[in-house]
Amino acid sequence: ALISLRQLLDHAAEHDYGLPAFNVNNLEQIQAIMQAADACDSPVILQASAGARKYAGEAFLRRLVEAAVESYPHLPICMHQDHGASPAVCQASIRSGFSSVMMDGSLREDMKTPASYDYNVKVTSKVAEMAHAVGVSVEGELGCLGSLETGEAGEEDGVGAAGVLDHSQLLTDPGQAAEFVAATGVDALAIAIGTSHGAYKFTRPPTGEILAIDRVKAIHARIPNTHLVMHGSSSVPQEWLTVIREFGGRIKETYGVPVEEIRLGIRHGVRKVNIDTDIRLAMTGAMRQKMGQKPDEFDPRAFLKAATSAARDVCRLRFEAFGSAGHA
Ligand code: G3H
Ligand code: 13P
Ligand code: NA
Ligand code: ZN
Repeated sequence: ALISLRQLLDHAAEHDYGLPAFNVNNLEQIQAIMQAADACDSPVILQASAGARKYAGEAFLRRLVEAAVESYPHLPICMHQDHGASPAVCQASIRSGFSSVMMDGSLREDMKTPASYDYNVKVTSKVAEMAHAVGVSVEGELGCLGSLETGEAGEEDGVGAAGVLDHSQLLTDPGQAAEFVAATGVDALAIAIGTSHGAYKFTRPPTGEILAIDRVKAIHARIPNTHLVMHGSSSVPQEWLTVIREFGGRIKETYGVPVEEIRLGIRHGVRKVNIDTDIRLAMTGAMRQKMGQKPDEFDPRAFLKAATSAARDVCRLRFEAFGSAGHA
């Protein structure tokens, strides 16, 4: 059976570690994550975005996760809905069997327009009431993800505010976070500290001015019993960028969130670390490489096997770096 996010993160807090939450869309990604978790004995958070549910379909996703539970009965697995746009979306996921949902009320239902604090409290507390009644956990978000360099959300088409935001929206306020958690009853809170979704987070290796890990400390001091969540936490491995470029891909110069900075966050209350882009880059790099090196290969399994193996290595490194390895 699935386990709730709350149970996983309570254990992580008790033992001072963080858990990567990997986005999943298909069989290979789920297998890669599960194989990595099995190899290092880590609990698992799988999460599905609206885009994932559209890509795979609710029924396929649900059954792939069921297959993971059946194949790895000794590993605790949480199935989490990433960035719910409305209470109705969260309700559908709860009905579909998810053990955790994120209500992202930092944005309006279009997932582009920053929402008011009152709207955020209203929709998030509604979801908390609904979810907690059936043992499902809730993640909320306060503050908008976006670059402190440019004020932009970074994501062209996915989840993220359109246009340019100001500094006060891009950094979660500790006092307001305390108020928000008390008003909504969320189990976990996603905070804005300068990260953004996708591959283009920073134009240079981040320093304290553009990646505000200090803010984590200040928020944790105010709400020590709330599990903090970092979104946009891919590290954007330069090695994979090199492979992608070498085999015909085009990716501009870019930098992600260094694993060391995430470890600092984990020391100050971060318990869930969202990662999607790193798996995308590793899979794409491995497939480009395999296609480039084996031009006569036409069995897609050869490419997908390379992709799965590359994703597995990324996952294993994160389980180990965040300290969840050995805690299943
Ligand atoms: O929140 C963003 C995640 O990386 C999911 O992306 O909407 O393309 O599935 P997606
Ligand atoms: P990345 O794009 O940095 O992997 O972030 C994923 C995320 O935050 C999903 O909610
Ligand atoms: Na989430
Ligand atoms: Zn996110």
